Amino acid sequence: MKRTPEMTSVSSDWESFHATDISERLPFFAKDGRIYDCLFAQQFDRALLTHLFETADALRGLTATKEGMDYAGSLLSHARAMLYFVQPSTRTFLSFLNACHILGIRTSEIRDTSTSSEVKGESPEDTVRTFSSYVDMIIMRHPTPGFVEKTAWLMNRTNRPVPIINGGSGKDQHPTQALLDTYTLYRSFKGNMDNRKIAMVGDLKRGRTVRSLTYLMRNYRNITLYFVSPKQFRMEPDILDFLKRHDMPFIETEDFRSVMGEADAIYMTRIQDEHDKAGESRAVDYSPFHFRAEHLKLIGKNCVIMHPLPRRHEIEVTVDDDPRAVFWRQERNGMWARAALISYIFGVDGKIRKG
Ligand code: NCD
Repeated sequence: MKRTPEMTSVSSDWESFHATDISERLPFFAKDGRIYDCLFAQQFDRALLTHLFETADALRGLTATKEGMDYAGSLLSHARAMLYFVQPSTRTFLSFLNACHILGIRTSEIRDTSTSSEVKGESPEDTVRTFSSYVDMIIMRHPTPGFVEKTAWLMNRTNRPVPIINGGSGKDQHPTQALLDTYTLYRSFKGNMDNRKIAMVGDLKRGRTVRSLTYLMRNYRNITLYFVSPKQFRMEPDILDFLKRHDMPFIETEDFRSVMGEADAIYMTRIQDEHDKAGESRAVDYSPFHFRAEHLKLIGKNCVIMHPLPRRHEIEVTVDDDPRAVFWRQERNGMWARAALISYIFGVDGKIRKG
């Protein structure tokens, strides 16, 4: 990676680098005016989001025929990617895997560190660096917040960096989920993203998708966010501070029904009890944060119901038949949005758009 002058002055110590404000860290993860490592939702601006959504749409159109699919599959047939997913995942893993395959990228995967030299005492950082020598990109899901960024930081200081994509980092961020969520909003709203009211419902404290999605919503004008959660699982103060700094109105409530009629989109999430320390989720009544078939008559006729999935009981299954339930489409949108992002990182997005 050719370093920009700003990058050479970057701290050579991870702790000090990580302690600096995110706006100062971002240039280290960019190259030639483009995102190089996709780590945070804050890396996307409105123009880039629109560009990626149009690219995803173009890719869908292009690959509708065998000729088009063969062409898409030739664009990055010289590249290899590793999917390093050491936290449970099936849909995000498969979504990325198939996004790579659409572009012709060959893939390898690590899903379980117990079969790697980490059991011999190798540090996770050395392990990832070793794997990186075989591939041109790493897509990573990791339980520790900050680990994906640390990997990108380490790699960018070597002679052979490869782009790192964050497929979910602890309770922290899930930028490509936010990308596909916003792509789903964009398609549902026919590109009219401004002046929207979005309700995020459930375990907002420990869900990373709602954090990343909130960051992305800053790119649109006059967005109001409703944070609907049990009092134990309210949105974290860092996100609320972010909204205040950017003059974005938000309302916190435990009364789901009170916002149903207002929202243009309702984003449901499950309880994230894998983060429990002592079974604290069991003390929470989550049922007021469920969307049931009887609620369909309370929401607007164009309101969309979303969910990053997997679902437990937050959305009654009969709701799926309503045209406003878009979560299955949302899942499929993920593959196209991720393929668009990867094409952009490798600089072949222009070829997709030309068709
Ligand atoms: C989400 C995640 O892993 O954060 N799942 C996903 O990537 N689609 C949401 C969740 O697990 O609740």
